[in-house]
Amino acid sequence: MKLAIDGKLCSGHGRCYTLAPKVFDSDAEGYNAAVETQIDVPAGQEEAARMGMRMCPEKAITIVEE
Ligand code: F3S
Repeated sequence: MKLAIDGKLCSGHGRCYTLAPKVFDSDAEGYNAAVETQIDVPAGQEEAARMGMRMCPEKAITIVEE
């Protein structure tokens, strides 16, 4: 499972890395550290990743179809 983070939408709400700390990380300013890159979700973290994705108020996180 791969996720993409839209840097134009991420506003630093921080729900993603709070809810799924093994999937997402923050940068020094509280934004998702992986903006404009793709994240490989670690095995077993899919549900946490989906939760973090759903709870982003800006809808900045999307699943990358493979
Ligand atoms: Fe950004 Fe959404 Fe996370 S605004 S810090 S991707 S909860």
